Amino acid sequence: MRNTATMEAIQETLTQTMPEHELDEALQLIAEIRNLKKEKNLVILGHNYMTPDVFHGVSDFIGDSLGLARQAANTDAAIILFNGVHFMAETAKICNPDKKVLIADPEAGCSLAESITADDVRMLKARYPGVPVVTYVNCSAAVKAETDICCTSANALQVVESLADEAVIFLPDEYLARNIQQKTSKRIISWEQGKCMVHEQYTAEDLLHARRQFQDLLIISHPECNTDVTGASDFAGSTSQMADFIAKNKQENIMLVTECSMADNLRLQFPRRHFVSTCHTCPHMKKITLKKVRDAIINEQYAVEVPEHIQKPALRAVERMLAIG
Ligand code: 13P
Ligand code: SF4
Repeated sequence: MRNTATMEAIQETLTQTMPEHELDEALQLIAEIRNLKKEKNLVILGHNYMTPDVFHGVSDFIGDSLGLARQAANTDAAIILFNGVHFMAETAKICNPDKKVLIADPEAGCSLAESITADDVRMLKARYPGVPVVTYVNCSAAVKAETDICCTSANALQVVESLADEAVIFLPDEYLARNIQQKTSKRIISWEQGKCMVHEQYTAEDLLHARRQFQDLLIISHPECNTDVTGASDFAGSTSQMADFIAKNKQENIMLVTECSMADNLRLQFPRRHFVSTCHTCPHMKKITLKKVRDAIINEQYAVEVPEHIQKPALRAVERMLAIG
């Protein structure tokens, strides 16, 4: 989704969520970053888990992994700065090998991406010859290069169902694989080591307690949670699908079973709703700050590189996913 907020609108939004002494500094940085973006013909893609100052203040496009991958594939800006984690910036680079793609902190990783290597995928392919490999985009470019097609949490079921085969290797998220297994008759072969360090912390009990405490509570979880958690929820979907679901439903009390900043950002988008906070933060996403964003643009750092022998097969897997509506 495009973010066209003016400086006045950003100030009004952030005033609702930031203390005054932090707000002044944030607004100065935001104004500086907005000028630098124009000077350098640079586009900023901002994931839904960015803190409100980064999310609302400097993003040209906001959204989930799928939406931002689509924006990355279509942009004509000279430079892309990805405010998210490394695998997301790498996906943008895979789609734009001739463009400069930057990330404000190269240490912004992901526990899922770190759970698997290209060698692990080769080992699985040898163990299950002929079985197609679907990889969740939360993995390295080298892992994507070994796979037939990528997916995100927004389209995982569609991607799996698009394949003619009766069995599918689905990597690396074990819980997303289990959630998909509940919705498909295909046999899903998963990777036990792959867990999101944020979503694995939620339990079905957390949800039951909240239901007892708040009347008429709408519970929305991410499918990186285990199946007992998604099963106890009213809806499970990608971060952008969560926002769409809230827009379509009228309940006042909403509990988001996902990363902390998601509720902070949605509180500003839906001021009449009451969000029950569940605060598990992603330490990787939280590495991206306004100061680092400003420095990344000034110094054109940190450039994400993907060698050609990995970029080309990885692009095939990403493009195959993007071709699915
Ligand atoms: P989305 O694709 O839903 O934005 O999720 C990305 C992610 O990292 C969730 O933890
Ligand atoms: Fe990775 Fe989980 Fe952080 Fe998303 S929230 S980037 S899946 S560790």
